[in-house]
Amino acid sequence: MQNIKQYVEENKQRFLNELVELLKFPSISADPQYKNDVLKTAEFVAEKLKDAGADHVEVCPTAGYPIVYGEKIIDSSKPTVLVYGHYDVQPADPLEVWKTSPFEPVIRDGKLFARGACDDKGQFYMHVKAFELMINSNSLPCNIKFMIEGEEEVGSSNLGVFVKENAERLKADVVLISDTSMISLENPSLETGLRGLSYLEVEVTGPNRDLHSGVYGGAVANPATILCQLIASLHDKNNHVTIPGFYDDVLSLTDDERASLNNAPYNEDEYKKDLGVDALWGEQGYSTIERTGIRPTLEVNGIWGGYIGEGAKTVLPSKASAKISMRLVPNQHSDRITELFTKHFNNIAPDYVKVNVKAHHGGEPVVTPTDSVAYKAAEKAIEEAFGKKPIPTRGGGSIPIVALFEEVLGIKTVLMGFGLDSDNLHSPNEKFDLANYYKGIETIPLFYKYYAELSL
Ligand code: BES
Ligand code: MN
Ligand code: MN
Repeated sequence: MQNIKQYVEENKQRFLNELVELLKFPSISADPQYKNDVLKTAEFVAEKLKDAGADHVEVCPTAGYPIVYGEKIIDSSKPTVLVYGHYDVQPADPLEVWKTSPFEPVIRDGKLFARGACDDKGQFYMHVKAFELMINSNSLPCNIKFMIEGEEEVGSSNLGVFVKENAERLKADVVLISDTSMISLENPSLETGLRGLSYLEVEVTGPNRDLHSGVYGGAVANPATILCQLIASLHDKNNHVTIPGFYDDVLSLTDDERASLNNAPYNEDEYKKDLGVDALWGEQGYSTIERTGIRPTLEVNGIWGGYIGEGAKTVLPSKASAKISMRLVPNQHSDRITELFTKHFNNIAPDYVKVNVKAHHGGEPVVTPTDSVAYKAAEKAIEEAFGKKPIPTRGGGSIPIVALFEEVLGIKTVLMGFGLDSDNLHSPNEKFDLANYYKGIETIPLFYKYYAELSL
């Protein structure tokens, strides 16, 4: 541990500078305008993997953005760890709310602000630097394979094919991912599950063209109004989702399991204060921890229609639309939920509009084991680095590839995230606390050490 700490201490500034370089690439996978930047980011990541000591580094083309692969095989009788991360980021908008530009990283108050600082550049780069540390100190005790993709934020639609076609090359004993959150540096935690996702877009069409809202208003249904009514009806007064069958496959937890989940530190006043809300909302009968971890939900991600430009325009729009996503929990299936939603939405549409539901991507929920050698190694590593045993929690976000790794390669995952929920992932002013960054780089080599030891 002393050697690790010393190496991190001596290389701190460089570790930071390199991350800053990485964060300057606007690798927004959702927006084709940034295609070149995304491609350049992949090249940069490949270079850094090579510099750190990886062999067979390759920028592997896919039908979409490439996957960066690299490995270090020290001894085929040793266990192999597959590190997964993503170099793409979410769009930065709304830009006007950023205090500083999203792709010009700035440190304020010990935190590095930039799009991707936490999700996931800062987090996967800890693995590249921890790998460098182990190579340079001759202490790498396992084989390592890196797989860093560029389409996570848009559903990883080409990753499944890559994993299937490269099953042999990706063979490993465990997948290690830092792309989730921990409670705090004082209360380290390990996520032991992720929610699945079913993402759709709905369009409500009324009249065959935009109309003068005075000439026709009152006689023709306004698609924006109808869309709002339809969306509002998707939750009942207890905030349960009203889609028939939505909860049918949900596994309920035992009272003991619920009690232990709710044991995690959580301060409702701080939570509300941080978000600037006076009261919380959610499914009746469940705590905030349960609502964001073990219960399925339905959210409107965006809604539009009619005139949204400067000033006023009196118009009755022809169309209104919304992007809707549902978070899924174990035993729910994204295809099934997408089907239930589509059927229900068509059913509730009144005669005076037409609705069209278009499915986007999906992903399956996962629960990761807490009795595995790899989980125990992560637990020990965190305990040693943070001085406290990590608390198991359930993550509310989704990383669809985790279920795929299990299904296609038969490999389980350890979610060793070092971000914080309050790091503004997908929001303006995304950040990563440098203390978490350096602590992560210290913890990762300990994971390898204990994983090799406990695997014997
Ligand atoms: N890193 C997140 C997922 C995450 C964040 C899990 C925090 C747990 C805690 C990932 O990059 C992400 O944003 N995933 C998307 C899903 C994807 C299919 C677009 C998500 O969760 O919305
Ligand atoms: Mn991520
Ligand atoms: Mn993300």
